[in-house]
Amino acid sequence: MTLDEKAKLLTGTGMEGFSGDIAVVGETNGLVPGAAGTTCPIPRLGIPSIVLGDGPAGLRIHPTRDGDTATYYCTAFPVGTLLASTWNPELVERVGEAMGNEALEYGVDVLLTPALNIQRNPLCGRNYEYYSEDPVVSGKMASAIIRGVQANGVGASPKHFAANNQETNRMASDSRLTQRALREIYLRGFEIVVRESQPLTIMTSYNLIDGVYSSESRDLLTTVLRDEWGFGGMVMTDWFGGKDAAAQIRAGNDLMMPGLPAQHDSIVAAVNNGSLAIEDVDVSVKRILNLVLASPRFKGYAFSNKPDLEAHARIARQSAAEGMVLLENRGALPFSAAVKNIVAFGITSYDFIAGGTGSGDVNEAYTVSLKEGLTNAGYNLDADMAASYEKYIASENEKIKPDTINPLAAAMPKVRMSEPVPARAEIARLATRSDIALVTIGRSSGEFADRRLKEGDFLLSAAERNLIESVCREFHAAGKQVVVVLNIGGVIETASWKDLPDAVLLAWQAGQEGGNSVADVLKGAVNPSGKLPMTFPVDYMDASSSANFPYDYQASVSTPALLPGNNTKTKTELVRNVDYTDYEEDIYVGYRWLDTRGKAVSYPFGYGLSYTSFEYSAARLSKTGGVFTVSVNVTNSGAVGGKEVVQLYASAPPSTLGKPAQELKGFAKTQELKPGESQTVTITVAESDLASFDEARSAWVTDAGTYKFRLSSSSRNVRATLDAVVERASEIKTHNVLNPREPLTLLNP
Ligand code: BGC
Repeated sequence: MTLDEKAKLLTGTGMEGFSGDIAVVGETNGLVPGAAGTTCPIPRLGIPSIVLGDGPAGLRIHPTRDGDTATYYCTAFPVGTLLASTWNPELVERVGEAMGNEALEYGVDVLLTPALNIQRNPLCGRNYEYYSEDPVVSGKMASAIIRGVQANGVGASPKHFAANNQETNRMASDSRLTQRALREIYLRGFEIVVRESQPLTIMTSYNLIDGVYSSESRDLLTTVLRDEWGFGGMVMTDWFGGKDAAAQIRAGNDLMMPGLPAQHDSIVAAVNNGSLAIEDVDVSVKRILNLVLASPRFKGYAFSNKPDLEAHARIARQSAAEGMVLLENRGALPFSAAVKNIVAFGITSYDFIAGGTGSGDVNEAYTVSLKEGLTNAGYNLDADMAASYEKYIASENEKIKPDTINPLAAAMPKVRMSEPVPARAEIARLATRSDIALVTIGRSSGEFADRRLKEGDFLLSAAERNLIESVCREFHAAGKQVVVVLNIGGVIETASWKDLPDAVLLAWQAGQEGGNSVADVLKGAVNPSGKLPMTFPVDYMDASSSANFPYDYQASVSTPALLPGNNTKTKTELVRNVDYTDYEEDIYVGYRWLDTRGKAVSYPFGYGLSYTSFEYSAARLSKTGGVFTVSVNVTNSGAVGGKEVVQLYASAPPSTLGKPAQELKGFAKTQELKPGESQTVTITVAESDLASFDEARSAWVTDAGTYKFRLSSSSRNVRATLDAVVERASEIKTHNVLNPREPLTLLNP
């Protein structure tokens, strides 16, 4: 290959919708309209383009094509956060299989999923795409998706590597953190996926880590990812990410996406002036060629453009129901046989939010609303209320015109219309003629912007609070119950109102079958078994990262920092939490902080109710070859079938390193157990899984001593405790890399 051809291969073909020097190369433009990008073909050598498509809730392509009567809809699966809430990797693997099959059948070679950044703060705009505040949950769920996707011969692309935990100023913000926090929290999930599911590619993140763009960090991409973890695949940038193409190649970031002519030229120039070794270029070229060779397109796979959307809709419905979390239930759920007539309040009862916005959004053929789902399940929905909501929604939608000029604005979350509150007398009248009330609260967020600590976002709006209060007051006065359904993509405040209704179901953003899945749970066709993969704090500021998060930042789409590499401010001009964010909470993210502090929470990590109850018995532990095997019998002690998630938390013996009160080390979900039925679940924990990262020794260190293993049904509900004895301390050496440039002031847990 000539140098020009090599440089072409290292830079994608540009992006549809952007004009001028970043337009798509004609030849690949029509491959799969709406896919995120293509690699550059080299026809002289028979090297085709391969196609890369988003994203975490299913494939994102244009649903229709000019001059073509066929449709190309994809299945909107539930969002990543909901999938994580299933705590069921086998089920999530089947979701991955279905997503990967749609990619394969629509001619996409790499599906840009899963997104497994840590939910460091409740308000990150993209938390809906991400899995958890805990790296083990994130890593296990992402591995399941990758195994499923790649079983189709399509590549997966775990993203965004790494420490991409806010959207504010996302292309130029510096995540400043210790090597320990990076390794234990922010890299750990990626390490799990590399070791357990061999992804064909990885996508680097936009942000800098301790002053270096992720995509330009050789310490991250070569020393840690490849040398320490053994990653053998190809690394690509996030779209337009990073600044210096030659530095990216040197670091081990092989492919620049979507690709700019200027990047091609700078690679050629850097080789010619000796600042970039041709050997480094060749290594990246080989990695891209290996990916091309393995791709369905190179192998000539004759894709059908007809995936089995009905079968996939069934998987979406089933997985969505399994990831819903029952937060409160004072005898309201499942609906009794007497419930026939339901009145549904709340915009999202009629305009259900299937997923978040941005590249994680899917172009699905339909979304089942709650109204439709309950109607399908045989309930009568109050027609007057439905008509009045539908009229309101239509007229408000008329007023919210999408911004057609600015593509970034068009991709931003829609401004949510305010919640109408029917008059008190009207609600009272509805209470006499209905058996039960539903109140739905909705939230949407996505790429480019974080959520805010304000009414209507983290906090309920005054109208939402008024709606919940009024409906509860009037229905309770009439002896009727009220169920709140949360159709949200991230954590909101719950402590101040959760005792008002008779039940609260966290439905998340449940994909295109959402309304059917909610109805399955309300009716009791599915017994909820989802558990929270993050903590719901009482107050926003209780979360350890909140003081170091842009929770009140006022962005605008014209904020120049939306574009790459333009952070030219001097040190004194840098704005805290915007240009840089200090991870002062260090490893104490989520429950690691709150449990260590013993702080009250609204709902703890790992929490979720069921329509039945479970007993744990005969907890036991054995050890062979440095691996603990922990077993416990779980018995369904209630009256209906159900599944339980058993969580294993470890508490370390006293150590010179600070340690959280407890950390999740493994989990297992039972099968559906009939009343009275038991199952033995087994969780294994290696001694090396108990290690913490000791910066002074540049090593993962497992201290000797007695660890307490807690078998729990949530981080705050311990059902059995076992002693796990590590006789001899051990360590695994690493390289001393990725340290903050200046010391950070860390919070004291
Ligand atoms: C997002 C990625 C996505 C890419 C391609 C970026 O804006 O951060 O997650 O895969 O676009 O659409």
